Amino acid sequence: MPGAIYAEGLVKAFGDVRALDGVDLDVPEGTVLGLLGPNGAGKTTAVRCLTTLLRPDSGKAVVAGIDVLKHPNEVRRSIGLSGQFAAVDEYLTGRENLQMVGQLYQMRAKAAKARAVELLEQFHLSDAADRPAKTYSGGMRRRLDLAAALVVSPPVMFMDEPTTGLDPRNRQQLWEVIKQLVSGGTTLLLTTQYLEEADHLAHDIAVVDRGHVIARGTSDQLKARTGGERVEVVVHEREHMATAAEVLAGFGKGSTTLEQHTRKLTVPVTGGAKLLAEVIRELDIRGIEIDDIGLRRPTLDDVFLSLTGHAAETEAGEDDLEADTGHQSEKEAAK
Ligand SMILES: Nc1ncnc2c1ncn2[C@@H]1O[C@H](COP(=O)(O)OP(=O)(O)OP(=O)(O)O)[C@@H](O)[C@H]1O
Ligand SMILES: [Mg+2]
Repeated sequence: MPGAIYAEGLVKAFGDVRALDGVDLDVPEGTVLGLLGPNGAGKTTAVRCLTTLLRPDSGKAVVAGIDVLKHPNEVRRSIGLSGQFAAVDEYLTGRENLQMVGQLYQMRAKAAKARAVELLEQFHLSDAADRPAKTYSGGMRRRLDLAAALVVSPPVMFMDEPTTGLDPRNRQQLWEVIKQLVSGGTTLLLTTQYLEEADHLAHDIAVVDRGHVIARGTSDQLKARTGGERVEVVVHEREHMATAAEVLAGFGKGSTTLEQHTRKLTVPVTGGAKLLAEVIRELDIRGIEIDDIGLRRPTLDDVFLSLTGHAAETEAGEDDLEADTGHQSEKEAAK
């Protein structure tokens, strides 16, 4: 039986650009799928197709058990989307915005008011509740927008980069809200540029590149695919790097990488903590003082890098990296 979000062979082209080139997705009810991919990979296009905002050229999509192409209006009633549906009205206050959404969903005025208070509290907007949204900072708007998407708790939610532009504290708080939501049974598809976010929230991850799902699995499965563990050593004296490299070569399962400026050596290993103890002992016998040593497992960033051939963007301001990716992003295209 297909999951709460199901897509098969979704294709969407814009002129020559095949934004989606046969995307398959299946998200079991009550779970979170993290959709990862470089700029221009097709994440937003996939979300827009699944939420009825865009009609795919071909393929099939079923959301909350409803055929998206045949019954878009019914689908709209069963989903929440942060970003588009919950458009914030600049001239209304935060409170009024949330009450209005409640009323659009036919909540009684009293219930809509109570829900607004609850959400304002949850998203730390109580102090600003009665100011027009146009006076809100970027992060506050983002939170109001997300709160609006949560006024009625729909069984299926889509969030396109929900925490982009939020500071670390607000991001953490939103993660808590999302976890609560999912523990209540909501199915969620979320796109994100923050791999840590996917690692933290997503049961399953689908990596998209050039309109294709190129990898799929849990964070651990993807990490295991990327390669095993490494020992990283930072030696105290740069002159000791050569000797340290010799020591590591004796334990490594591959070639040692040296980073002169940070005095860091890295070697792939198998054997875990026991091996680490042996490496430390051997370095000590050779009289090599170390500043830091550790066993490092691949991060989701390593996975992303090895799958797509380039690193995920971390913070806004690194947009110039896009030039190296060979993709054209939405923002670029708009210029
Ligand atoms: N309305 C449109 N008209 C023309 N091209 C579009 C349109 N929307 C998207 N595209 C193109 O489709 C491709 C996929 O875009 P999409 O916005 O889905 O990527 P994304 O993965 O969401 O990227 P980002 O990480 O930058 O948000 C890009 O090449 C983009 O330029
Ligand atoms: Mg996008």
